[in-house]
Amino acid sequence: MITKQKGTNDIYGEAAKKRAYVNEILATLCEKYNYGYIETPVFEASELFHRGVGETTDMVQKETYDFKDRGDRDLTLRPEGTAPVVRWFIENKLYGNMTDPVKVFYNMKMYRYERPQSGRMRELTQWGFECFGSDEVISDAEVISLAYNAYRLLGLDDVVVELNTLGDTESRSNYREALVEYFKPHIKDLCEDCQERFEKNPLRILDCKVDAGNDILKHAPKTIDYLNEESKARFEKLKDLLELMDINYVVNTNLVRGLDYYNHTVFEISLNGSYALGGGGRYNGLVETLDGPSTPAVGFAMGLDRTIMAMEENGVNIPINDSIDLYILYVSDTEQETAAYLTQDLRLNGFIVETDSMKKSLKAQFKSVDRFNSKYLIVLNEEELKTNKVTIKDNKTKEEEQVSLNDIADYLDMHM
Ligand code: HAM
Repeated sequence: MITKQKGTNDIYGEAAKKRAYVNEILATLCEKYNYGYIETPVFEASELFHRGVGETTDMVQKETYDFKDRGDRDLTLRPEGTAPVVRWFIENKLYGNMTDPVKVFYNMKMYRYERPQSGRMRELTQWGFECFGSDEVISDAEVISLAYNAYRLLGLDDVVVELNTLGDTESRSNYREALVEYFKPHIKDLCEDCQERFEKNPLRILDCKVDAGNDILKHAPKTIDYLNEESKARFEKLKDLLELMDINYVVNTNLVRGLDYYNHTVFEISLNGSYALGGGGRYNGLVETLDGPSTPAVGFAMGLDRTIMAMEENGVNIPINDSIDLYILYVSDTEQETAAYLTQDLRLNGFIVETDSMKKSLKAQFKSVDRFNSKYLIVLNEEELKTNKVTIKDNKTKEEEQVSLNDIADYLDMHM
C-alpha cells in the first residue's frame, strides 16, 4: 500500500469544511484592507530562496526541497511566500511610478523538510500578505493590524503580538559587532550549528532551537540597545500606533526571526506563549537583493494548520454545515428519471440535494436521509407524478404538504 508522505496531510470531510470557513473569513478581511489575491508557482529557481531568504539560514541549509528538472535546472519547492512575491513584483516592474503601495495576499502550500511533529509539517499552508512601496510606520501598523485582527475574527481573542526591532543597516551592523564580541568567549559551549553561525551570521545564534534554553543566549546583548536615534524613534512611533489601535503586544527583545531579509520591525503572533501561529516584519532590502530597485516592504504569514489546531484546542466554535436540504427517494425507473432532473433543477436553484445512486431499497434510502441529516425529503410516487405533484416532508416535524413540481424551490425557500 502506498501511504502519504511524512509531514503531509489529506484534507477532507470536516477538516476541509473548517478550512473553507477560515479561508472565507481571511479572504473577506483582506478585501477590507484592500489586498488583492495572488498565487505564485509551487516551484521556483533555487537561487531565489538562496539569495532571498539567505544562504546561512536553517531554511536554506536544511529545509528546502531541492531538485533538478529534466532540463537540468536547479529548482526548489517554495518554502515561504515572500521571496516568490518579491520575484513577481520585480518581474512585472510594479516598482515604476508607485503612487500607492502594491498590496497582495496569498493562501499557498509551502514545503519544508523539517522533523514532523504536532504543528510542524513538511507540507504546510500559509496565509500571508505583502505590502510594497511604503517605508512609513503606518504601513507596519497596518500589517500588524491585519494579522492580529485575523486571529481575533477567527475566535482566538487572546493572541499576543510579540514585537521587536532590528533597526536599520547601521544599527544592525553595530549589533552584529556586539554579538560577535559577546559570543567569542562562549562559542565552544554552543552547538555545532551555532559555531558555524558565529562565522557566517551571528544573529542566527539567537533563534537556535538547540541552544534555546541556554543562559548564554538569554544574556546576549539586545538589539534594542544598539539602535541609532532614527531606528529608536521609529520603534517608539510604531508602539504608539499599536496602542492607539488597541492591539495587544509585548516587546520581546530576543525575537530576531529565522530569515535574513528583515530590518526594523519584526513580530510574531502567539497564544499563551506557545509556538508562533504566524510571523512577519519589514524587509526593505529584499527587492534590491533580488535585483530590483530599492523598495521598502513589509509583510506577514500565518501558519494556517497551526491556527486551525489552536482554534480546536481552544474550543472555538467553527460553524460547519453537516446537513443537506433535501433527499429525493424513489423506486421505479420512471421515478428515477424524475429524480435525475429534479435534483439538478433544485441544486441549480441553490439547494443541497441528494438522491440514490446505489440502487438501494426504499428502507436503505430512508437511512441515507438520516445519515445526511436531510432537512426535507420527497418520496417520488408514479401515481402522484402523473398530476405533476409530490409530497414534501419536514424530516424533523414530520409535517407533510403536497406541492406541484414547479413549486418545490419556492416551498423550500419559504420554509428554510
Ligand atoms: P515563518 O516564520 O517562517 O515566516 O513562517 C510563518 C508561519 O508559518 C510560522 O509562524 C508558522 O505558524 C508557520 N509555519 C512555518 N513552518 C511551519 C511548519 N513546518 N509546519 C507548520 N507551520 C509552519 C515566513 O515564512 C515569512 N515569509 C513571513 C513573512 C511574510 N515575512 C514577511 N512577509
